[in-house]
Amino acid sequence: MDPLFTETGLFLALEGGEGSGKSTQAALLVDWLEGLGRPVLLTREPGGTDVGKILRRIVLDNDTGELSPRTEALIYAADKAEHVDRVVLPALADGRIVLTDRYVDSTLAYQGAGRALGVGELEAVARWATSELRPHLTIVLDIDPAVGHTRFEGADRIEAEPLEFHQRVRQHFLDLAAVDPRHYLVVDGTREPEAIHHDIRAAVEPWLAQAVAP
Ligand code: TMP
Repeated sequence: MDPLFTETGLFLALEGGEGSGKSTQAALLVDWLEGLGRPVLLTREPGGTDVGKILRRIVLDNDTGELSPRTEALIYAADKAEHVDRVVLPALADGRIVLTDRYVDSTLAYQGAGRALGVGELEAVARWATSELRPHLTIVLDIDPAVGHTRFEGADRIEAEPLEFHQRVRQHFLDLAAVDPRHYLVVDGTREPEAIHHDIRAAVEPWLAQAVAP
């Protein structure tokens, strides 16, 4: 099936390693878009729906302990299916801008490169779960995991993985961006938040005409 880019709304994704500053950039981007009078929905994976919040707890809580990598991948896929069907697609159909904090690329990077599942098979599952819906633009906040890890306290199931795991994740985000430059922006996550925001605005601006009410 051809990748699906919706006709009406604008679909943006923020991706990056732990401590890369996604939340800060999401808030700055939403403020800017709302200031332009654009209807915007900020959402996240995992946890963008009621069921997703439960799945998020299961997959990130240390009390869950070890999971088979395929179980983990399927929990993330279930979260995505619910999120896309119930939140993302309806908002896009209304002509809104949807900004998701993480999407399919996180599965490819964390479960694919990180857990070393076959990326091809995994992608087929993740694309099926999301009805092949692709972001128009994915913003990758790139940060050396050794630096990112100093930016949060405590560690959930994924954060607790060793540095090499997070290095594979980082490299996979960069590889995904490199093969499709039209739909990716990679920004250096160690720069000042305002400087990063400036670059993100410049990359999002040309896409704004995409978000029109039907
Ligand atoms: P965050 O949304 O708070 O950044 O954290 C979510 C965690 O889940 C993060 O460690 C990345 C991980 N993750 C996956 O491993 N696969 C996925 O598909 C998604 C969306 C997140």
